[in-house]
Amino acid sequence: MIDNVQLNAEGKLKHFITIEGLSNMLLTEILDTAESFVGMTDQQIKKVPLLRGKTIVNLFFENSTRTRTTFELAAKRLSADVLSMSISTSSTSKGESLLDTIRNLEAMFVDMFVVRHGISGAAHFIAQHTAPHISVINAGDGQHAHPTQAMLDMFTIRQIKKDFTQLRVAIIGDILHSRVARSQIQALNILGAAEVRVIAPLTLLPAHVETLGVSVSHNLTEGLKDIDVIIMLRLQKERMTSALLPSESEYFKCFGLTESKLKIAKPDAIVMHPGPINRGVEIESKVADGPQSVILKQVSNGIAVRMAIMSMAMQPQGGV
Ligand code: CP
Repeated sequence: MIDNVQLNAEGKLKHFITIEGLSNMLLTEILDTAESFVGMTDQQIKKVPLLRGKTIVNLFFENSTRTRTTFELAAKRLSADVLSMSISTSSTSKGESLLDTIRNLEAMFVDMFVVRHGISGAAHFIAQHTAPHISVINAGDGQHAHPTQAMLDMFTIRQIKKDFTQLRVAIIGDILHSRVARSQIQALNILGAAEVRVIAPLTLLPAHVETLGVSVSHNLTEGLKDIDVIIMLRLQKERMTSALLPSESEYFKCFGLTESKLKIAKPDAIVMHPGPINRGVEIESKVADGPQSVILKQVSNGIAVRMAIMSMAMQPQGGV
């Protein structure tokens, strides 16, 4: 459990490290703020001056396509100066510690770090050790959390389905290694979803998964009944330390989402995936590219949601 280093004395967002411990009111404020940015994509000038004069550094110690680029676009649309550091070509490769990297960047008058790191707790560690005026946003840490991904997923669900309290949501696949699933489960429970159901083989579920606030199924055909929102997950092979599955083709046969299996869910069910997708492993191309898929809408919404989180975390902080 992370202490609430995320909030200032007034209960406003200062850092965004995890969904855990945040209120329905705060999550709803993020979604409402993102709503105000979403229309900007249709405007000729896609910029607002909210973060003019601020400096944001993207620190990605792990690879990324969607998160890194949408954070960069979001920062630019808020008129911030943004620097995306490539860690593979930085002095980290010469043995510089994480804290020394942070200290050196602080000396360049940075206002915000956006951090992706392979180690759970890295963003929290930086938030605890950085200068008091700097905000830290977690762009994914180990198997722990990916809170901005969860919020863009919640935004996409609300855009289409409106009311969380009526929704049964299935999260399918490698729950064990997924920081996205952990953050989504927390967000869905805080926002009052009727049911969060995880569907996976026993080997891809954490021990005592029910304590996270989910129901459990090991059978995709049974588990998809009455579902409004389907969230597919990639097999995170880079985090698997032993063979947890007989084969990818066997996994696809049992847990892959195909057109025929999709028909078991509600007829207006939407299909989501945080990406990157592995076609033919967890999802059939016809489903990923089909009419019920909102996978690319999730990516687009990532810009507005990250604009909302960055602008909220850097609003003038009174009383601290
Ligand atoms: N969903 C997600 O985090 O994708 P990237 O790894 O490409 O950022």
